[in-house]
This record gives sequence, structure tokens and C-alpha cells, in this order.
Amino acid sequence: MDKLIVRGGRRLSGELCVSGAKNSALPILCATLLADQPITLSNVPHLHDVTTMIELLGSLGADVMIDDEMNVQVHGESIANHRAPYELVKTMRASFCVLGPLLARHGEAEVSLPGGCAIGPRPVDQHLKGLAAMGAEIEVVDGYVRARSGGRLEGARILMDISTVGGTENLMMAATLARGTTILENCAREPEVVDLGDCLLAMGARISGHGTDTIQIEGVERLNGCNYRVMPDRVETGTYLIAAAATGGRIRVSETRPETLESVLLKLTEAGAVIDQGDDYVALDMQGRRPKAVDIRTAPYPGFPTDMQAQFLALNAVAEGTSRVVETIFENRFMHVQEINRLGADIVLDGNTTAIVKGRPRLRGAQVMATDLRASFSLVVAGLVADGTTIIDRIYHIDRGYERIEEKLGQIGADVERVVSR
Ligand code: EPU
Repeated sequence: MDKLIVRGGRRLSGELCVSGAKNSALPILCATLLADQPITLSNVPHLHDVTTMIELLGSLGADVMIDDEMNVQVHGESIANHRAPYELVKTMRASFCVLGPLLARHGEAEVSLPGGCAIGPRPVDQHLKGLAAMGAEIEVVDGYVRARSGGRLEGARILMDISTVGGTENLMMAATLARGTTILENCAREPEVVDLGDCLLAMGARISGHGTDTIQIEGVERLNGCNYRVMPDRVETGTYLIAAAATGGRIRVSETRPETLESVLLKLTEAGAVIDQGDDYVALDMQGRRPKAVDIRTAPYPGFPTDMQAQFLALNAVAEGTSRVVETIFENRFMHVQEINRLGADIVLDGNTTAIVKGRPRLRGAQVMATDLRASFSLVVAGLVADGTTIIDRIYHIDRGYERIEEKLGQIGADVERVVSR
């Protein structure tokens, strides 16, 4: 298994460009199954999760072509198989979002239940409840969801019990080809939901309200091909800004969309960063100062994203003062705490949802293990501010969501090296 060697103690400084958003690219790739013409996507990040999704589309029978610049063309007309197997869905939950498109376009689908994962149990009840309200017959047999519509799905009014990103996306996609109007209420408002909605509009869907908590979809008979550019990754943007802030550094992140990061930029400002932003860049300058401890509470968008909790917690571990970090989205998203403490941090968990972080002036390098995607990057942040060398094992988690991590970190002055083991 590959390892990442981080030699800490350097102040990050420089400029880097952000990649396309993983959490946008994945549902948009699922949406290609809805069209009867080819769809060409640009700004698709070259990540392990994207490769898994492309493999899944291929296994369903879609024609997929990828050029040198990661422009991905998918033609879903040739789909012959409607089964998404456990082997693929268990490695990446976003695969469950093929359910809505397969059912809407082909009248049937068989998709493995994703099961729990490192950050919590993560049920899919809202996806299933919504599809049933649209007239799908659903049964769960041997760990697979079998769904049939016996023709077209029917538009419905669906009130989701909780704000779910994947649930909103699956149902919005399914509704595009349903007969009549669907009104989805209590929708997730994340920018990636908006990006998917915009791609569906480019395919000829009739959608309004995406980005608010009520989305209205008028079903159409068919969807066409289009060219669509995936939005920049707000989590990647925020992650590098947090890393630079933790080291007292100064960086400029370009090709991004600062308006999708407001809650994070506010917290970085509270931590002492001077932020300058334009239409497509964010520049952060800590002016060499140690960050101040900042309380964080994760919440659905536009609140502070759960996907940046671990990285901010690592910043708080070296900040001046004590902070409280509360996770409200996932039940088990503090696995990084034990690992960051191995570097000498003082973080105490109060139950599953709250971490009390007493900032330490310095951390010391140690051997640690990555537990999930965002947690892995929190170990990189901790390693960057630690004296000496940190060795991070199981970094395949990082490759699921951060493109060319050593190269990008190198560009901003970090001393990071990958050790490939065979
Ligand atoms: N939930 C239910 N029932 C459902 C669906 C969700 O109880 O039917 C619960 C989940 O268990 C969780 C909460 O609702 O406690 C929110 O889950 P949501 O459905 O919003 O999350 P998701 O769609 O599975 C996406 C991202 C995650 C990100 C969350 C929250 C993708 C591919 N994944 O997951 O990203 O943390 O939204 O913003 O879009 C990551 O990139 O590292 C990552 C985990």
C-alpha cells in the first residue's frame, strides 16, 4: 500500500489551480444514463472514484470515451444491463445514484445496497421512499434494491425527512423523465445539487428551484446530449486554504468559485486569515501568524461542510486557544482524532459528535493511518505543521478525492513524497 511521507515545518506559499468537483462529477456521470444521445463532460477530475463510476457505466453497457484532458464522453443508449453490483457500490456509495436514472429510463434497476461505511451507517431510505412515491415497486432482496416502474414513473410531491444530497440528486434525476410534475421538498441545497440540475437543464430537462429547498421538475419524454463543464471542487479549495492557514502561510487558489465557500472563508477569517477573493480565485494570507482556535459546527449547505471538518480540526490542533468542533451530519466522523493525537495533539472526544481541541504550539511527526478520504487530508495538514517526519499509511483514501496531491502540495512549498509499495 502506498504511503505519504510529509516532512513538516514549512510555511506553505504559492499558487495552485483547483480540479473539477468530485461530488458533482459523480452524480453527473450517473445522469448521462438518462439521455439518448452522447454527453461530453469537461473538468472531470482524474480520481479513483471517477474511474470506479466510469467502470460501473461501462459494466452497464454504456460507451465511454476519455481523452488526454479527461473530457469524458458517455453514450448511454446502448445500456443492456440494469444491475449495479455490490463489488462496485460498496467501494463507492455515489454508485447508488444510478438507481434513479436506470429506473426512469429503462423501467427497471437492480442496485446493491451500499451498506455502512467508515463515517457512519448512511441509510438510503429517503431515496427509496421517494421512488416509491413516484410509483416504483421496490423490494430489497439479498442486499439488492430491485425497482420496477412498469413504464414511466409518475410525478409526485415528495417531502424528504432530512436534507440528503444523494437522495435529492437521485430523485431529481428520476423525476426528469416521469409523467407529470414532481415537487421535491426539504431538498439539499449543496452547490453540487445545483450543478447536477444545471447539467440536466442542458440535457433538456425542465427543472426549477435547485439550490433552494423546493425543486420542481416537469417530466419530459426524452433527454438529449450536451457538453457540460463540471464545477470547481469547493472541498479541495477549502482544504488547501486550511492547510496553508495552519502553517501560517500565504496561498492563492484559482479556477474556483469562492461563493460556494462562504462559511469556510468566514471561519478562516475568524482564525486570523486575511482573505482576498475575486470571481474565480481566493487568496489567503496568515502573515506568518499562528491561527486562533475557532468553534465549528457542521451543517447542511450553506452551513460549515462536514467534508471540511477533519481538516479544520487539524488546524485547531495547532491554534492558539481551545475550540469545540461539533459534527451533526455523520455519526462517526471523528476517526482522525486518535491519529492526530499520535502527533501530540490534545483532542478529547465528548461522545460521537463533539471534539474539544486544546491548541498546541507544536506537533511532532509520527506514523499514522488514514481512515477515510477527508480524514486522510487532516493527517496531511497535521503532518505539515509537525516537526519532523509524518508517515501516512493507507493513502488510497486520499486518491479517491484529491487529484495529484503531491504535485499540488509541492507547488505551494510542502515537502511531501509518495512511497509506492508493490
Ligand atoms: N441519510 C439518511 N437516509 C437517506 C440518505 C441520507 O438517513 O436516505 C443520512 C446520512 O446517513 C447522513 C445524512 O443523511 O447522516 C446526510 O447524507 P447525504 O445523503 O446528504 O450524504 P451523501 O449524499 O451520501 C454526499 C457527499 C459526501 C458528503 C455528504 C454531506 C457525494 C458523492 N458524497 O454524501 O461526501 O459528506 O453528501 O454533504 O456527493 C466526501 O466527499 O468525502 C463525502 C463523504
